Amino acid sequence: YEGAQNYLPRERDLTALREASAVCRGCDLYADATRTVFGEGPERARIVMVGEVPGDREDREGAPFVGPAGGLLDRALVEAGIDRNTVYVTNAVKHFRFTRDEKSGRRIHKKPSRSQIVACKPWLLAELDTVRPELVVALGATAAQSLFGPDFRVSSRRGELLELPGVADPPLAVATVHPSAVLRARDSDRERAYAGLVADLVTAAEAL
Ligand code: URA
Ligand code: SF4
Repeated sequence: YEGAQNYLPRERDLTALREASAVCRGCDLYADATRTVFGEGPERARIVMVGEVPGDREDREGAPFVGPAGGLLDRALVEAGIDRNTVYVTNAVKHFRFTRDEKSGRRIHKKPSRSQIVACKPWLLAELDTVRPELVVALGATAAQSLFGPDFRVSSRRGELLELPGVADPPLAVATVHPSAVLRARDSDRERAYAGLVADLVTAAEAL
């Protein structure tokens, strides 16, 4: 596998990118997932939010953040005063990665590998180059490491106002925790984790 680069279309509008991404075989993930889950939102969005990888629901429905993590993200956006309809939402990796639970047969989400993140990055860069947002929000370590490099640590840099490296006319950028990390937190920690996500989104919104 050589990465997504050779599958990019010549035209750089979101419709052309989405169509081309549907037949991407830039890494091994296309083989077991149902479909490519491309980003969604307005072509002129001021904010691009980047998640990790589609989950089970996203794989079946073909849209990003439509499952439980998406529900939590929606609530956090409302609380931070950000209208999701003005946000383009996408993922660092665009095919669902999973292992199958032997007993239940359920598909269990698995973190994408570094090579899969690198293989899929051309799609993310093409989306950023097309939408040209003023601000990019990385949700969790996978998105942050795709955008800022493998040494980036969300735990120490979250909520900081950064600039996106490696793109022309760089947008502002903020990294924060992944909504799924809030869902996974123990009861006693969940409220604080959620408040932290909202606070980082407020920082991002206020930078615009
Ligand atoms: N988690 C992600 O990172 N992305 C999605 O689209 C859904 C869940
Ligand atoms: Fe292509 Fe990305 Fe899917 Fe890999 S995960 S096949 S690079 S779209």
